[in-house]
Amino acid sequence: MGVGLDRVVLWGRNLTQYEQMFNLTDSDLGKNIVGVADGPACTNAELFEQGIRYTSIDPIYKESVDDIRASFLGSRPDVMARISALVEAKTVGLQKSVEELGRDGDQVFDTFIADYEKRKDSGAYVYGELPSLPIADQAYDLALSSYLLFAYSGVLDYSFHLAAVRELLRVAREVRMYPVTDVDNYLSAHIPPMMQTLRDEGIDVYLEDVPFRYVDVKTNNQMLVARHL
Ligand SMILES: C[S@@+](CC[C@H](N)C(=O)[O-])C[C@H]1O[C@@H](n2cnc3c(N)ncnc32)[C@H](O)[C@@H]1O
Repeated sequence: MGVGLDRVVLWGRNLTQYEQMFNLTDSDLGKNIVGVADGPACTNAELFEQGIRYTSIDPIYKESVDDIRASFLGSRPDVMARISALVEAKTVGLQKSVEELGRDGDQVFDTFIADYEKRKDSGAYVYGELPSLPIADQAYDLALSSYLLFAYSGVLDYSFHLAAVRELLRVAREVRMYPVTDVDNYLSAHIPPMMQTLRDEGIDVYLEDVPFRYVDVKTNNQMLVARHL
């Protein structure tokens, strides 16, 4: 699969990056939000510092801190190699050096793991795996999911994606997903049939521009929004 990844990696982003990936406003942050596939993102930790309640769901939350750390360290070389390969293939122009992006990822992980150690039994971090989440119907106003759906379109097939998005719509009134491109930065082949199917099911679904630029690529600047009308 080109310079992409052939397995889902453990790599996290911070609150500012979540705000940019999902066009989150102050009003959004007042909603009841769940982040699905949040993994080692430190968004939950940062929101907690601001007194904002937020729930993260991920399969890794059934693992020990040591095992999560080992998985993160195992993912790190693959992430760095992928970014370097994209730069070499000249498909992207980075806003930061590969080394700086690596250090950012380490910092996010350290913030996440410190909070996770403190609050893992508080209900802030919940074990769960798409396409079947341990959440009641419409328990949340907004579900966010980044760098799982569509990013791994070569690994996760269309039926998984459709079941996952339907599940997110079961638990939340509105769902925002980023990116809509696959790991090689092409629009995911799952996007057009997904949008048509959801529309046929009466869901309001559209692509929306976002300011987030992890790597500076033209195709990487939209999120997919799906909402119950
Ligand atoms: C690249 S990380 C993204 C983390 C975070 N969303 C972010 O953008 O910073 C991908 C995450 O997807 C999680 N994941 C893998 N399979 C999953 C599934 N079936 N359901 C939910 N999460 C899954 C992984 O454990 C990992 O934490």
